Amino acid sequence: MDNWKPVIVAFVCNWCTYTAADLAGTSRLIHPPNVRLIRMMCTGMVDPKYVIKALLEGADAVLISGCHPGDCHYINGNFKARRRVKLLKEILPRFGFDERRVKLTWIGASEGVDFAKTIKEMVEEVKELGPNEARKQMVL
Ligand code: FES
Repeated sequence: MDNWKPVIVAFVCNWCTYTAADLAGTSRLIHPPNVRLIRMMCTGMVDPKYVIKALLEGADAVLISGCHPGDCHYINGNFKARRRVKLLKEILPRFGFDERRVKLTWIGASEGVDFAKTIKEMVEEVKELGPNEARKQMVL
């Protein structure tokens, strides 16, 4: 695929990572434009079905990112997300997906630099993995 550019769907919590993404933008930080943000109130709301659906419909990777442990605005949503992602990574191969296509990070509201860095690193990682096979059937 000559013109292939990875597409990353990112489920980000409103209070931390979404704000960090906004800060990265207002600070004019450069990061690859490969990410499609989906704003959630908390990472605890990210149902594993959303992740699998994104991959089945052609995302090359999925990022879930929210508040640091102990900072979740809903007390323990990010701990729930951490447990779900751990289990999700175990079942992803059954759907034919490399578990490295799903990543969980904590990026606080003031960490715009970290957001830009995370996106850059993830794009490079996904380029090494190559296109998601499901993507051949559908383009986001
Ligand atoms: S509110 Fe940010 S992870 Fe829960």
